[in-house]
Amino acid sequence: MQASDIDGDLTEVLVTEAEIRAKLDELARRIEADYDGRDVLLVGVLRGAVMVMADLARALTRHLEMDWMAVSSYGAGTKSSGVVKILKDLDTDLTGRNVLIVEDIIDSGLTLSWLRENLESRGAASVEICALFRKPDAAKVEVDVKYVGFDIPNQFVVGYGLDYAERYRNLRDVAILAPHVYS
Ligand code: XMP
Ligand code: MG
Repeated sequence: MQASDIDGDLTEVLVTEAEIRAKLDELARRIEADYDGRDVLLVGVLRGAVMVMADLARALTRHLEMDWMAVSSYGAGTKSSGVVKILKDLDTDLTGRNVLIVEDIIDSGLTLSWLRENLESRGAASVEICALFRKPDAAKVEVDVKYVGFDIPNQFVVGYGLDYAERYRNLRDVAILAPHVYS
């Protein structure tokens, strides 16, 4: 789906599909250099990170493993509750593993700070975070995100996996959702 297919629902395209691809290539080169010789386990956070995972994994030119977790902190609305619940856990034993969490977006930081601690407590050798988007003005807790794609304004965005009430995930670009859609 292109932004022009749902024009009235969006106020502006923030990051295009091509810009996302270029950024993921750049992040992949950094990740390859940093993990030189170490096996990496990519942990994707369902469902928003599906597109990031698919494109980042293919941008990497080395063996890796992928596993998935589903956590909920939002419900159907646009605000983080801070209460994180595991809806689907990993199938992989993390003992001694180098884990790279792959996320779509970091907003308040509550989800990722909780997730990092949770994965560290399972005996991982290292836990780092890659988030395609970050909203610096929305941060409620400090989270050290090693790989960030784009810092964006504190507005609700959709596309490239990001949804509002499960819609817009299949939009190719990332765009600001028009307030009339959710208010
Ligand atoms: P926190 O606040 O815990 O939230 O950092 C991270 C999770 O919230 C979702 N999120 C968004 N989803 N557009 C979305 O479609 C947004 O602008 C947005 N901001 C946060 C997302 O699921 C992320 O994993
Ligand atoms: Mg998410």
